[in-house]
Amino acid sequence: MTVKILSITLLLLSVCVCCHSSEGTRRRHPGRIPPCCPAVTKGNRTAEVVGETYREQAASGRCVKAIIFNTEYGQLCADPDAQWVKDLTAKMKKA
Ligand SMILES: *[C@@H]1O[C@H](CO)[C@@H](O)[C@H](O)[C@H]1NC(C)=O
Repeated sequence: MTVKILSITLLLLSVCVCCHSSEGTRRRHPGRIPPCCPAVTKGNRTAEVVGETYREQAASGRCVKAIIFNTEYGQLCADPDAQWVKDLTAKMKKA
């Protein structure tokens, strides 16, 4: 009898641990990976940038440190250390 209760307790405990760890896994590996910049462009693309805001991206995983500008064809990932990027961001607002 005692053994049975003990094994049920253990089973419940392991189910609990299992749920928690799978929750943690889901949070660490979301199904939908947000778009990010795997590389940056260094060349002067000032002429292609539209709008008045930019976004900063921190390096994480496959993503590199980048400044994200808007262009007519989508987002442009730029090198935060490039002079043209510094010139542009100085004139723009951080989104
Ligand atoms: C980048 O190009 C723009 C014009 O397209 C120019 O005004 C600017 O001075 C250039 N910046 C650099 C750092 O070469």
